[in-house]
Amino acid sequence: MAIKYLTCDKVSIDDILKVLKEGFKNHAISIEFTNESFEQIVRTNDVKLDLSLMAFADEKPIGCWLTGIRDINGIRYGYCAALTIIPSYRGKKFAYNLSKRALELQKEAGVKITKLYVLKDNTPAYNLYKKLGYRDVRLRYSLYLKLSELEYASQKLNITDKAITVNDFELCMKDQEIPWSLGNYKRYLNAYRALIGKNENETVGFIGFYPQDELFIAYLGMSYGWRTPSVASTLIRAAAKYVNATPDTKILFFEIDGKSYLYGILKEFGKIKKKYVKVEMELEL
Ligand SMILES: CC(C)(COP(=O)(O)OP(=O)(O)OC[C@H]1O[C@@H](n2cnc3c(N)ncnc32)[C@H](O)[C@@H]1OP(=O)(O)O)[C@@H](O)C(=O)NCCC(=O)NCCS
Repeated sequence: MAIKYLTCDKVSIDDILKVLKEGFKNHAISIEFTNESFEQIVRTNDVKLDLSLMAFADEKPIGCWLTGIRDINGIRYGYCAALTIIPSYRGKKFAYNLSKRALELQKEAGVKITKLYVLKDNTPAYNLYKKLGYRDVRLRYSLYLKLSELEYASQKLNITDKAITVNDFELCMKDQEIPWSLGNYKRYLNAYRALIGKNENETVGFIGFYPQDELFIAYLGMSYGWRTPSVASTLIRAAAKYVNATPDTKILFFEIDGKSYLYGILKEFGKIKKKYVKVEMELEL
């Protein structure tokens, strides 16, 4: 079998999409790969196609690794935005060899630390990353509960729906989020519906959400001194009211850092359940 690797800027988007679709078909979180969603993945993760790689076996595209690059506080970070080998070619070291090359490209491009997120239950991928030398950094939890299960008393706050500023956001999140995901959130800030809670003129917290069948909470932040279950539940209830949620509406919290104050607060909502858990991993190059 003749194996070759090409950077993604030298490959058609159709070939990339074909491999991603086939490779992620049975993934635990369903991902739709269209031209638009691919553009979104590229944009939000700062994917560089000239540092991303496709693997070919006898000219057939069989695998793909997408690399994002960001310079944060003088350090160049890399990020694996996607990796897959199509099912019929698995178990033959293709992912290992593709990953090694993709990591080398990052190193040549000056990346010092490279990161990724993997579902905790995705044993093949997790083992692969361990084999490549990645270490676990922390867990991220996607959590949910029904509106009626939110049992905390409310806090008196003045809640408005004016746009959240980056300043407000940083006030509540800077000490919490790793720089890479903080960068992602900032891009999304006003893509979601958002509410701000104030006590007189002081920003107490905010919530960004997206009304689907369930109430999808993209971010929830509180400033120092206001990080309590009552403030969190007040903001959540305000968002629920905004979208006319019923007691049975499922509230879904998107990927909460297991080391954050927010995780501690949400855990106090006794009936909260886990939808999935991701491991953040990193490797120094
Ligand atoms: C994860 C994935 C890319 C691995 O591809 P692959 O080409 O089969 O992997 P390789 O043959 O290169 O295996 C390299 C290492 O990965 C681990 N691994 C791969 N398949 C595994 C399996 N079924 N069970 C346990 N470990 C496995 C092993 O450590 C293996 O090394 P070893 O063979 O010396 O034990 C592939 O299963 C895939 O595309 N999965 C779906 C998409 C996905 O989950 N991507 C990761 C998202 S974060």
